[in-house]
Amino acid sequence: MVEKLKKIWLEGELVEWDEAKVHVLTHTMHYGLGAFEGIRAYKRTDGSTTVFRLKEHVERLFETCKLIMTEPRFSKEQVHEACLQVLNVNGMEEGYIRPLVFIGDGAMGVYAPDNPIRTLVVAWRWGAYLGAGAVEKGVRAKVSSWARHHVSVSLAKGKIMGQYTNSTLAKREAKMAGYDEAILMDTHGYVSEGSGENLFLVKKGKLYTPPLSASILAGITRDAVLTLAREEGLAVAEEMLTRDQLYLADECFFTGTAAEITPIREVDNRKIGDGTVGAVTKRLQERFFDIVKGSDTSSHPEWLTRVR
Ligand SMILES: Cc1ncc(COP(=O)(O)O)c(C=O)c1O
Repeated sequence: MVEKLKKIWLEGELVEWDEAKVHVLTHTMHYGLGAFEGIRAYKRTDGSTTVFRLKEHVERLFETCKLIMTEPRFSKEQVHEACLQVLNVNGMEEGYIRPLVFIGDGAMGVYAPDNPIRTLVVAWRWGAYLGAGAVEKGVRAKVSSWARHHVSVSLAKGKIMGQYTNSTLAKREAKMAGYDEAILMDTHGYVSEGSGENLFLVKKGKLYTPPLSASILAGITRDAVLTLAREEGLAVAEEMLTRDQLYLADECFFTGTAAEITPIREVDNRKIGDGTVGAVTKRLQERFFDIVKGSDTSSHPEWLTRVR
């Protein structure tokens, strides 16, 4: 359960948590067209709070809006500011921030071009997305019976609400079968991503992940990990990956704002490597966590927005 906080930013105003309501005829609630983001703020070891890659998340929110031809009434700067406001007004030292652009009530039917475009930003406290110990010990994943949308069926580069029915089906299937997370293939059988994460594998010291032209979200954590891997001198390949490459990987991990860098210790009951967190994954986790919440404020200051 999300813990109730004080205020939510709705349409340019900070409103009481319980008063942030929408009408039942809200178009997005019926047809799923809308854009959202997921952003994390961290409390650092020195006691300060920084948001990780806020600018890029706001940028992607507006890119999603462009993909679905939904123009927010608020500017990028206003949404950026709203993200900081919800942290401050709720006294949050860390947490998850969720901006959302949706089509409001007015006309019904899928077209409804004149309905108001509404924007909200809500924040809540969120710990380890894939469960306690997941980041430290790794998770068990299942290749889903659900394929990721074909690129001519939807817009994987957009974080569009309706597309997440696919993720939800895959996640439910995996959880109900006793696994922690799903891995979706594309409609040709190549590895795509997790239900809410990008995927990496390591083989013979080289790092692999599907390319941006695959049916995947252009993850901001994915981009950070690729940058850090190159800085660490690792060979990196963005290429299509098969299910057997996944099973035979030495290491495997998910990346995402919610999942951060979560090792995958098993896929379809096959141990990945020796079933423990591998050296490359560990090194990338160290670099990542030191930047997002540790003492490293100098490697990538452009990734950090100071809240307090
Ligand atoms: C489907 C999907 N893939 C990948 C990601 C990871 O993206 P990011 O690292 O930008 O959070 C997410 C989370 O936003 C996602 O929902």
